[in-house]
Amino acid sequence: MDTTPDRILGRCLSKVKPLVSEAERSPMGAMKKLIQEQPDIRNLALGEASFDPPDELVQIASSVMADKVARPNRYTTTRGLPEMRQAAARFTERLTGIAVDADETILITVGGTEALHLATKVLLEPGDRVLLANPGWGPMATLAQRQGAALEYYELEKQEAWHITEEPILERLEPGVKLVVVNSPSNPTGAMISAEGLRRVVERAKETETFVISDEVYHNFAYSRPFASALPYDPSLENLMLVNSFSKSLAITGWRLGYAIAHPWLIRQMDVYKESMSACTPSVAQWAVAQYLDSADEYLAGVSALCESNVRRLTEIMRAIPGVKCPAAEGGFYLFPSFEGMGLTSMQVVERLLRGGVAVTSGSAFGSLGEAAVRLCVAMYWEDLEVAARRIEAALTSS
Ligand SMILES: Cc1ncc(COP(=O)(O)O)c(C=O)c1O
Repeated sequence: MDTTPDRILGRCLSKVKPLVSEAERSPMGAMKKLIQEQPDIRNLALGEASFDPPDELVQIASSVMADKVARPNRYTTTRGLPEMRQAAARFTERLTGIAVDADETILITVGGTEALHLATKVLLEPGDRVLLANPGWGPMATLAQRQGAALEYYELEKQEAWHITEEPILERLEPGVKLVVVNSPSNPTGAMISAEGLRRVVERAKETETFVISDEVYHNFAYSRPFASALPYDPSLENLMLVNSFSKSLAITGWRLGYAIAHPWLIRQMDVYKESMSACTPSVAQWAVAQYLDSADEYLAGVSALCESNVRRLTEIMRAIPGVKCPAAEGGFYLFPSFEGMGLTSMQVVERLLRGGVAVTSGSAFGSLGEAAVRLCVAMYWEDLEVAARRIEAALTSS
């Protein structure tokens, strides 16, 4: 078959320069399709919780839609509903101890993803040096690359547990590095950075005039050390942006609700850009979470305890499989075990587990240090995870 672009696309489309390459596609799309085709597969591949969002929040959202006075089905301002920005500011103060200005320094976004998209658009120019984690969340690298940035990496430490040590970051932070991204707790490892480590990174970044993005979307899932936000180390937001989201903590990935906290100048830049990109963040999600957030503590503690217990139980099961190394996760909702000892590549493990009825994500999608590893999502009820764990055991121990 003739596969020249002309024949496939026709005259007009073949003149269009591809904006993205198929290689940029995250492995999630293919995985979702496979899972839909085989409903009995246990899905540990996706980066989202399968437990329910808070009942109260769902009820508020349903009644909000019918509210004829507030008119919540319409656009909100691009920056976000004032009530949502104020709720996010109160939440931030509870989490970090720092008061932020809800009018000037918060932008409500279509998930943390849009906040990161806007941040890279505004901050980066072709050739800028960007320092990212290895292993780390793939879309962050894609976003920076799309701006023409040159990617550099700091490695996470893998011992008994995965950990984000500050030394490898500090060693690479030098004048000329435009942006460093810290994601704690981390996707895919669950690694965390200590408060002191984060303070040192933010301080050094001020000296080298490097901008810091602290991606805190897994803030609710901190187990073996307390969650540390970067905000207390640069409360004036001179060279720091916080990215946060309710996707993971409230199990509402599909509602698309996140926010950025940054310097008023940056927020204005992102706000103007967003206007022509998404106009506003889904209105019903904003109205409902704004009403619910102050009473979310019990739910948040419950899902954090569930994930912590899942992490502990699954780690034990994985460690008992000969040849598997499973560093503990300090937080987050993933385990990132290595199968190097079994002589298997990431993709070989993915395929073997898929044949055994469990979908997982290849570690190689998260950087060179992810090779021979896979990512297992634990954010589900234990009964579901246990079935998957037993299938993993069987698939890896049968010859
Ligand atoms: C590290 C990290 N940052 C940001 C996001 C964005 O999440 P959302 O756009 O759903 O808020 C994700 C989602 O998987 C993530 O893992």
